[in-house]
Amino acid sequence: MPKLCYIERVSETPKPIRYREFTPRAPEGSVDLEQFLPGTGPIEIDIGFGRGHSIFERAKLAPESRILGVEIKAKWAYKVDERRKRLGLDQVRIVSEDIRELLPRCGPRASVTRAFVHFPDPWWKKRHQDRFVVGEPFLDALADLLFAGGELFVQTDVEDRAIRYRDLIAAHSEFQLEGEDGFIDENPYGARSNREVRAEEDGLPIYRILARRR
Ligand SMILES: C[S@@+](CC[C@H](N)C(=O)[O-])C[C@H]1O[C@@H](n2cnc3c(N)ncnc32)[C@H](O)[C@@H]1O
Repeated sequence: MPKLCYIERVSETPKPIRYREFTPRAPEGSVDLEQFLPGTGPIEIDIGFGRGHSIFERAKLAPESRILGVEIKAKWAYKVDERRKRLGLDQVRIVSEDIRELLPRCGPRASVTRAFVHFPDPWWKKRHQDRFVVGEPFLDALADLLFAGGELFVQTDVEDRAIRYRDLIAAHSEFQLEGEDGFIDENPYGARSNREVRAEEDGLPIYRILARRR
């Protein structure tokens, strides 16, 4: 009898979900975005989408666009992809990857219309600065992928990060900032991220940067 109780208790223990095993990944080696994203619409990339609010809103507002969502955390990529499948959003593809590693493998050149980076770099310790997404190598790789006039939209509620991003982009020869001081007031795309919704509810200032590929 005690043995039976033991077996029952063990079988009730939920197995941990190993998201990394089930989450979608990008192909190895070079990634041809025109092939990887089915259809012919403009290509957009949502980088570090977290819980995915921006992905779902954007898919609704711009159904003609092909959207690639890239999120380093396997758990969020898995969950957002499951929801994407339930909603039948075939124009969206989700991958769990480090964008810094993935972007230089993507092509063809000048194939991407816009990239969104909503509230990036949630690292606050000095020793974690090497994890930052928005940096020179990222801008170089993105400049290769964006077509002339293509857009990079970055937003954050952290003032010193905002200034850092603006200055980095301003110093990059391939990008031209919009707005007098390099910031714009509104999110021109309508699709808001989870963090953006919360920042607005909390009345926090949001620093928004829109840059165009020259
Ligand atoms: C502060 S959260 C913002 C999430 C979402 N964009 C929003 O605004 O609600 C930053 C997100 O970027 C992701 N991230 C950080 N570094 C990344 C990288 N190298 N590649 C892809 N995603 C990354 C994190 O896992 C996290 O989900």
